[in-house]
Amino acid sequence: MKQEVTVFAPATVANVACGFDIMGFAINQPGDIIIARRKPTPGLIIERISGDNGKLPKDVTENTAGIAASALLKDLNEHSGISLEIEKKMPLGSGLGSSAASAAGAVYAVNQLLGEPLATKALLPYVIEAEAAVSGNIHADNAAPALLGGFILIRGYDPVDVISLNIPDNLFCALIHPHSEIRTREARQLLPKEIPLRTAIKQWGNVGGLVAGLLSNDMQLISRSLQDGIAEPIRSKLIPGFTDIKNAAIRAGALGASISGSGPSIFAFCDGEAIATAVANKMQQACRNTGTDSTIYVSPINRNGPKVLATVDG
Ligand code: HSE
Repeated sequence: MKQEVTVFAPATVANVACGFDIMGFAINQPGDIIIARRKPTPGLIIERISGDNGKLPKDVTENTAGIAASALLKDLNEHSGISLEIEKKMPLGSGLGSSAASAAGAVYAVNQLLGEPLATKALLPYVIEAEAAVSGNIHADNAAPALLGGFILIRGYDPVDVISLNIPDNLFCALIHPHSEIRTREARQLLPKEIPLRTAIKQWGNVGGLVAGLLSNDMQLISRSLQDGIAEPIRSKLIPGFTDIKNAAIRAGALGASISGSGPSIFAFCDGEAIATAVANKMQQACRNTGTDSTIYVSPINRNGPKVLATVDG
């Protein structure tokens, strides 16, 4: 029987410009480490959290890892003693899907510890439930790629219909995290409840174009489709230097750039790793010009989702 499972769970980029709440992808770095361990007394606890500067609650009813794992254990009618340890390796409120990564890592690790009673896809409702509890709204565009890896289209929410898209091998993501914090819950409240028909027409044209471009390896079509007329015009005002950073990315050869999730991180899609590295450096330079420190990442699309790093049997 497994006594301990250590899992890596990836960061994710949600929205992907035109796909507010319906598209997201996983990246290789950064990501959280979640350890699930058996303990002698029944029930779930969060034993330890590191890397969060003391900001995250250890109460299992308030932490996304705890909420997701509790819901899974309840459905399985499983009362074994399990403790979770969370090593946050990514900033909170960064737009990199931090809360989804912890939730996905936790349910994946617990499911492994219990001998895989459920298929990975069946764990998705628990990750979505945890995300909804902390963001105030159901959205799966971080949850699904964090759990399943790859580039995900959420065709619908009622019921959740998640589609993994094939993507060009050469598609790389350059990311910048300006060192500030935006709360998803608040960034969602800024958005309009209704949008004009002409805005919607442009947006669904771009969504279709992006999906077609990904499936047909058409980098120019991907480039033309990376436009957002709904969230970016409003949320970009929360990110100092957004326009300069985005323009720097495009000038350096990016296919397109937009806000990652609810920000402040900004992603750029690039044709190849060399361009992505140059783009990330130029974005950082533009960000520095606004007086803001930042961290940059360059990654292909992570195709696997959570990964078991170590297990202890006994
Ligand atoms: N689609 C969500 C939003 C993602 O933009 O609010 C949050 O990371």
